[in-house]
Amino acid sequence: MPSNRRAFVIGAAGLVFARPAVAAAILTPRQTEGPFYPMTKPADQDADLTQIAGRPGRAQGEAIELTGRVFKASGAPVADGLVEIWQANAFGRYAHPGDKGGTESDPDFQGFGKVRTGADGAYRFRTVKPADYLLGGGSRRAPHIHLLVADATGRELTTQMYFPGEPLNAHDWLYSRLGSDALRQAATAKAFGGARYTFDIVVA
Ligand SMILES: [Fe+2]
Repeated sequence: MPSNRRAFVIGAAGLVFARPAVAAAILTPRQTEGPFYPMTKPADQDADLTQIAGRPGRAQGEAIELTGRVFKASGAPVADGLVEIWQANAFGRYAHPGDKGGTESDPDFQGFGKVRTGADGAYRFRTVKPADYLLGGGSRRAPHIHLLVADATGRELTTQMYFPGEPLNAHDWLYSRLGSDALRQAATAKAFGGARYTFDIVVA
């Protein structure tokens, strides 16, 4: 009896150990594009949103680095994939004519950027931490960055990334509607020192 029990435990542990780590990966949840995807994209669309080409100024707010990798659910990296981000500035305002909020615009903030992933699926942006912003009806969006990724076949995923430890996350109507803690975790960046965040994206 004890030896059978031990064999079962070892067997089960062996199965868990042999399974690739990514097998437990949860697909990054699709989330709404929102109303502020740029109508007119800026001339400068590079990976550094903190400075606009030809302007001497720097975007206001806390500069952050956002890195991550795009994977298939199989664990294979999505190489040469497209990653776009767009977001509110450090005052919670988008560079979009539809954003009529009372918050300030920032002429030195690029607001939108795009890069292609490397062979390992990695991407990197420099940007500023977006502020939260008010929605009609008095609720607030937690700070978030919108992302669109596309693989070489053009299949797209649109999502939103949240910041860890933000008190507003629990009150954000989209974040709180994600169906489980695991999905909320999959939609939340990890902070790894200073103003550095990483957000891995898992697509089908
Ligand atoms: Fe938004």
